[in-house]
Amino acid sequence: MGGLEATEQDEKLGREEGHSQDLGGTGQKSSHNAGDQELGAALDIASSSKQLNYAKRAIKNIISVTTHTMLHLGCGAGGHDYHFKKHFKVTGVDVSQGMLDIAKKTNPDVTYVLGDMRSINLSEKFDAVVIPDSIAYMSTVGDLKQTLMNATGHLKTGGVLLVVAHTKEEFSEHNFVYTGSEDNIHITLFENNHIISDSTYEATMIYLIRKEAETSIHHETHTLGLFPYEQWLSIFKECQLQVEVINTDHLYDDYLLEEGEFKLKVFIGTLL
Ligand SMILES: C[S@@+](CC[C@H](N)C(=O)[O-])C[C@H]1O[C@@H](n2cnc3c(N)ncnc32)[C@H](O)[C@@H]1O
Repeated sequence: MGGLEATEQDEKLGREEGHSQDLGGTGQKSSHNAGDQELGAALDIASSSKQLNYAKRAIKNIISVTTHTMLHLGCGAGGHDYHFKKHFKVTGVDVSQGMLDIAKKTNPDVTYVLGDMRSINLSEKFDAVVIPDSIAYMSTVGDLKQTLMNATGHLKTGGVLLVVAHTKEEFSEHNFVYTGSEDNIHITLFENNHIISDSTYEATMIYLIRKEAETSIHHETHTLGLFPYEQWLSIFKECQLQVEVINTDHLYDDYLLEEGEFKLKVFIGTLL
C-alpha cells in the first residue's frame, strides 16, 4: 500500500484527516497485530490536511525566514510529512522502525531517524519542531516535560515548537468512525476513548480491513496522557517558550458517532 498514492487519492477526494491522535505507536496491548502495511494504510486514510493547514499557517506566520527546517517527532508512517515536505526540509523521528520503513517509501526525500522523542539528540537545531499527533503517548507529566524540553533543545532561537493536544478539562469520552479505500482495500476504523485514571485515558481501535473477498479485524489499545491546561502552560514556560494557543474545536466532529464536539488545542511556543 503506497502511502504516497493514498495521500494523493485523499487529496483528490477532498478527504480530511481523521482523528489520528491515537493511532499507531508503542505501549499498545494488541491481541492481533495488523501488518505494517495495513496500519500504514489506515494511518494514511486517517491523515490530516485540515490540521496541517493550521500547523502550516501558524508556523509560517511566526517564522519570517524563507528556508525552513522542521523536526517532526512521532512522524509515524509519514502521512503528515508528505504535506510538510512541500514547505519545509523535514527530519522525522519515530520509535517504530516499521513506521519509518513505510515513511521512507512514501517520502524518500525526507530524513528519517529511529529514536525516542523524550531522549533523541540530533545535534542539530531546527526552525520548527512539531508534534502534531503523538504527544498523547506521553502518559506521565515527567515524560511530557522531558519531551518538550528535548524538543526545545532542538530549536533555533526564534524557532517554534508546535504541539497538538487534548487538555484534561476539554476531553470527553467519545466514539469515532473513519473509513477510506484504495486499490480494492477498504478500511473502517472504530475508536473508543475511555478515561481510566486522573491523568490517562485508553484509546481502543478496531480496524476492519477488506481486501477484495478477504476480511480481517485487528484491535489495539493505547494508554494515553491527559493533562490540565495550566500544566501545559507551565511546562511551556519552564522550557522558556512564549506560548500562544489556538483552538481547533470542530476538526473531528464529523467523525463522532454521537452528538457533541471534540476539542483539541494547538500550543505554539516560540523560543525567544
Ligand atoms: C499517530 S502516529 C503518527 C502518524 C503520522 N502523523 C502519520 O502521518 O503517519 C503516532 C506515532 O508516534 C510514535 N511514538 C509513540 N511514542 C513515541 C516516542 N516515545 N518517541 C517517538 N515516537 C513515538 C508511534 O510510533 C507512532 O508512529
